[in-house]
Amino acid sequence: MRSVLPRRGMGREEILSRLRGFAEGDADPYSGRLFTIAFEPGVEEVRETAFEAYKMFAFKNMLDFTEFQSAIRMEKDIVDYAASLMHGDEQVSGTFTFGGTESIFLAVKAARDHFILKRGMLTIPEIVMPVTGHPAYDKAAEYMALRVKRVRIDGANFTADPNAINEAITENTAMIVGSAPNWPFGTIDPIKDLAEIASDKGLWLHVDACVGGFVLPFMREVGDKIPEFDFRVEGVSSISLDPHKYAYTPIGASVVLFRKKFYKMFSQFSNIRWPGYPIVNPAVLSSRSEALLAASWATLHYFGQEGYLELAKKIISARERIVSGFKEAGYSLMGEPTVIAAFTSPELNLFKLSDEMAKRGWLLYPQKGIDGMNIPPSLHLTITPIHEKTADPMISDLKECTEIVKKLPPTETENLLTIFSTVLGMLTPGEMDIATLAKLYTEAEKFLEAHGEEILKALGLEKGFPKEMGPIFQLLAAVPPEIAELLTNYVVIEIFHRGI
Ligand SMILES: Cc1ncc(COP(=O)(O)O)c(C=O)c1O
Repeated sequence: MRSVLPRRGMGREEILSRLRGFAEGDADPYSGRLFTIAFEPGVEEVRETAFEAYKMFAFKNMLDFTEFQSAIRMEKDIVDYAASLMHGDEQVSGTFTFGGTESIFLAVKAARDHFILKRGMLTIPEIVMPVTGHPAYDKAAEYMALRVKRVRIDGANFTADPNAINEAITENTAMIVGSAPNWPFGTIDPIKDLAEIASDKGLWLHVDACVGGFVLPFMREVGDKIPEFDFRVEGVSSISLDPHKYAYTPIGASVVLFRKKFYKMFSQFSNIRWPGYPIVNPAVLSSRSEALLAASWATLHYFGQEGYLELAKKIISARERIVSGFKEAGYSLMGEPTVIAAFTSPELNLFKLSDEMAKRGWLLYPQKGIDGMNIPPSLHLTITPIHEKTADPMISDLKECTEIVKKLPPTETENLLTIFSTVLGMLTPGEMDIATLAKLYTEAEKFLEAHGEEILKALGLEKGFPKEMGPIFQLLAAVPPEIAELLTNYVVIEIFHRGI
């Protein structure tokens, strides 16, 4: 049922109490029990400082930096710090954005426009990247009319395979991408090899250091083996790095850096064609609160380099215990981990394991892998400083849950899923062309209208998300991506429409 805004306003106490009610049942991002989605340094005081900074600037609008020049002051500092961490010279220029995806959008736009202007003609430009690249590139491509080619990775190291990248490049390739590290496995792609290819072929190379940019330099300084991935590598055109990940700022902070000031020109938007105010937007959005910029500035200065070095040591210590704990429990590590580690097991159902761990309050994400590329299902762990305290109890639960899952018989749903995936795989092999996709969507509209409710019920989704998500993840892993994407879009639209 649709709610309407109450006629009479509420008092502060009631408002806050209602909001606290909304938060009931949420995961606790500060608890150290989440091994994904939360980047927690385990330092309470920094939060308070960031909240104060947020309050000071919440109603100041970065849109008009002529009136709110604090935006320029704070942004310059943050971009400078990011550039110096990435060993950029004086020519490196950048933009503060609200997230990795937005930074990636700006890098893709710059690479695309640079490519089209260089070619002097319109084509559908391509992004070539290892299959481990973040979906933000597909999203940017979808919004800005590019095509993405995801290619196989080096199966032994779970890093980009430069040969596969090289083979996929055509005259329409505008951009190649490498990650430092990638999200699924936490491994660092061989950026030097990719840069050689990029330099050779005159291509834009974007390094996705959204995860690693604010932490790998500090890990290197305290002794971790981190290959070079930044502007010291010739051929790197742009880098994205997110304060809201491993600089531990409130969510909504990223930086995109361009090797040359002029590259940034292709990422910006300016418009002087209407009767209103002149628009120059360095980022995607126009009106933006300065709050997140201020909260980021505050957090970065709270820790300083010494603080980040200490936090880096904690991550390494937690990671070592996690890696040996998983190995003792019979899992294999996938590649060389950084701040993310992924584990696989040939005999265990990792979706069920993740559900067992969730019953004990631990959040570890199961990942589906890719059959055709020899990437097995895995468990993903994002390791943050708070895990120095919680790694040991988590590992002890992991060992118990592993034994429990080993003894669980396969369920009927699992058998159904196997049949389901084989049949659907036969119906829709490979990538769909536009005509097939259009047909799928036309059919889907009628089908979902008639059977949507039954599907939601069958998946236990008619009233929000069930406690055990394993079967749903498994279903999504089993069906072709086009169907899985359609289904997830449908479910999310319904859940947001109905509310929980
Ligand atoms: C490697 C990588 N790049 C980009 C992103 C997108 O970042 P955001 O969620 O801040 O948009 C992520 C998010 O996890 C990531 O892991």
